Amino acid sequence: MGCQYFEPCDGGATSFTVAIPKLTFGRGTLQEVGTRAQALGLKRVALFTDPHLENGPLVATVKASLDSNNIECVVFADIRIEPDDDTIRRGAAFLKDCKAEGMVSVGGGSVIDTAKAALLIDAHGGDIREYFAAPIGNGKPVPGPLAPHIACATTSGTGSECTSISVIRVNEFNTKFVIASPHLLPVQAIVDPQCCDSLPANVVASTGFDLLCHALECYTARAYTKHLQVKDPNARQLIQGANPFSDLSAREALEIVGTYLPRGVADASDHEARDQLMWGATLAGIAFGNSGTHLPHAMSYGVTHLMNDITTDGYPVKSPFVPHGISVVVSAPAIFNYTAVAEPERHLEGAAFLQADSKGATKDDAGEVLSKRIIELMRATHVPNGLGGVGFGSDHVKALAESSFRQQRAIANAPRESNLTDLENMYSNALSYW
Ligand SMILES: [Fe+2]
Repeated sequence: MGCQYFEPCDGGATSFTVAIPKLTFGRGTLQEVGTRAQALGLKRVALFTDPHLENGPLVATVKASLDSNNIECVVFADIRIEPDDDTIRRGAAFLKDCKAEGMVSVGGGSVIDTAKAALLIDAHGGDIREYFAAPIGNGKPVPGPLAPHIACATTSGTGSECTSISVIRVNEFNTKFVIASPHLLPVQAIVDPQCCDSLPANVVASTGFDLLCHALECYTARAYTKHLQVKDPNARQLIQGANPFSDLSAREALEIVGTYLPRGVADASDHEARDQLMWGATLAGIAFGNSGTHLPHAMSYGVTHLMNDITTDGYPVKSPFVPHGISVVVSAPAIFNYTAVAEPERHLEGAAFLQADSKGATKDDAGEVLSKRIIELMRATHVPNGLGGVGFGSDHVKALAESSFRQQRAIANAPRESNLTDLENMYSNALSYW
């Protein structure tokens, strides 16, 4: 498989760009943050985290490491799960006051995404809303670099430490939108699997399905050669479709999650499984940061927009709340059944990487084989049974489709086109699986 195995298309891109931060992976690497910040020439940094980590051992380790390298740090912990535009305004105001030279973020996707967006406003001004695509904002491009950002991941799912994407809930619409720019990419990512040792089983399951969907969406995304060629190479978004580099990361991430997810959920002391899942999440983050996700993520936004009667234990937030990975995976089996017809080989390969039983399967079986394997993993890890399991019924399908249909950039990255009715049909097929 060479680097030109994607078929060229008229007017389509003929090249792709890869961007990842300097990445350090391994147990104990949180202790290196201070040395790394010092090597970047930083003397005073903002430390962004959340209220639940603020006084815990992970943040203490990072603070001690900064301190032993004579780097001052000022902490901002006013960050909610699934941050909103007000969180970003508060974070940006904090940065303006604290006069830090750089950022260290310690947390999951919510913290790291907040850090990226606050750094953007701190460097280039304006209001966060301006940077969202119309009609939410003006689609203002990120004009240039941000202050150096060292992102330290504490969960094994989002991969945000390796992406140039920030996902923010816009309060006026009560739904999430994406800002994407190569300038949002952290300069360094620290992934220390020790952070996952104390995660509850349902958090490992949710973040594990987030990583699974990141990888599978990348592997089945519209090829980069089917995305329009850009005139200005600097204007190329990293949401550029499936490409040889994202394939490489996605394949490995799928093999890891297929093997280790049930073990990592079942046993917190299974360090091999949990370390592997952390590595899989990093690889999946690298993959989607360089290709983009598609329908399962686009359609998760309708779920989190309209949830109103669901309680999720184990998360320090008020209900209603559906964890991100669950909001993505509840519709995924139905969605991949829909998209398989456009790229059956890739869907069959994806199923094989997840160790599906695909003996004797033909292209016509691709959707069913892949969906069946995702459902097996859902059942093995006790996650909700489709949309019905998170409080939705058939009378919600229309509103879910209307809400998610606004996520046109992700929808356009899918291998198969879909209209509003197609989204309604996918949601209907996702109501329950067993
Ligand atoms: Fe995700």
